[in-house]
Amino acid sequence: MYDDVDLTDLDRFTAGFPHHVFDVLRRESAVWFHPATAYTPGGEGFWVLSRYADIIAAANDSETFSSETGGEREGGGTTLEDMPMGFAAGALLNMMDDPRHAKFRKLLTPSTTPRALRAIEEDLRIRAVDIVEAAVAKRECDFLVDVAAELPLQAVAQLAGVPQEDRHELMNWANVTLDYEDREVGEVNESVAQAQARMFSYGTALLERKRAAEPAEDLLSVITHALIDGEPLTENEQRLFLSLIIAAGSETTRNSIAIGMSALSVHPEAWERLRQDRTLLPTAIEEMLRWASSTPYNRRTATRDVELHGQHIAAGDKVSLWWASANRDERVFTDPYKFDIDRNPNPHLAFGRGVHFCLGASLARMEMRVIFDVLLDRVGTVTLTGPIEYVRSNKHAGVRHMPAAIDPR
Ligand code: HEM
Repeated sequence: MYDDVDLTDLDRFTAGFPHHVFDVLRRESAVWFHPATAYTPGGEGFWVLSRYADIIAAANDSETFSSETGGEREGGGTTLEDMPMGFAAGALLNMMDDPRHAKFRKLLTPSTTPRALRAIEEDLRIRAVDIVEAAVAKRECDFLVDVAAELPLQAVAQLAGVPQEDRHELMNWANVTLDYEDREVGEVNESVAQAQARMFSYGTALLERKRAAEPAEDLLSVITHALIDGEPLTENEQRLFLSLIIAAGSETTRNSIAIGMSALSVHPEAWERLRQDRTLLPTAIEEMLRWASSTPYNRRTATRDVELHGQHIAAGDKVSLWWASANRDERVFTDPYKFDIDRNPNPHLAFGRGVHFCLGASLARMEMRVIFDVLLDRVGTVTLTGPIEYVRSNKHAGVRHMPAAIDPR
């Protein structure tokens, strides 16, 4: 069935997310076993959930659908390729199950509440003005690099307590590991190995400094001083958290900003309405998040046998939850392919659902509000001057370049 569908052939993601494939799956085969192909990690097939209701049910049942592992499996995690247990699965916050996950996450929540974030909003606004003014001065720019990437990176560096002068180097390492430009899923080439090694030694030194310093409010300081059940987090957990926060914090938000802007650039009437009435911005941002779905999927592993829509999912099977497909589910969203800044309610799953719901959701929303507010104030039009270049990945709806002409207001 569906011989022509291969969700692990990354070349099929270079023109953006293949929504047409999921339209068919949602309609005909809500719980589909994707067979092994030349590209599937470990030469192993996996289950594909494409409907909103099934994805929510699985995400809300983290005992049955583990982010760590299940059955007899030796690896696990939330990507289709198995991550080694104890190194990534079971050690990265997002690839860890409760109860340890809940205890780890609780340490971080005070730093990420809307109230805590308001304290950095003014600073981000000043940074956003500089970013937009520099791009306007250029007129012809790469919207992804010059506008969309900068604010999320500066924000996450600030929140995590990474010195601002190191942020580009860190992001470059993260970019190398997130892009599959010249490799397949599960393969590590020389540039990835190098980037990982440099990130490792940078992280080790930075965390050492945080440990030696007085406790502060930044996330890295919090995790280096925190105790879970009376014990400090392992060095591996601390280092992996740094990589997670830089990658999760910068990559996803910049793609939502870029893809959101590209949608607005072809809906000048929406841009104009937003300019006239900023109270429309919150619903417009939710629509941009839905539209971009910048994390297309996360994987789980079944911990027990489950029957779903007549299909038998066995303990240990990989199960993928496609948030990007849920966000176009016609059972939930009227006219899902219409970019509608008035869409309300808009219960999209761009930030996931359940115990792993995105920790940075409030930060991402705030960054988007700030950057679009400044753009609407200072920019007349943004016109794309060439095709969007996407990263070669099924895990990140990532934009590599977005050439654009920016007219001042
Ligand atoms: C538009 C921007 C963003 C999108 C679309 C997004 C998407 C997601 C999704 C779908 C998950 C759930 C993963 C799962 O269920 O397996 C998640 C978790 C997470 N996100 Fe985000 N994210 C965004 C921004 C951020 C930012 C700015 C940060 C950092 C401050 C961040 C940090 C995290 C962390 C730490 C987790 C793991 C939470 C846990 O396991 O408890 N994200 N994100």
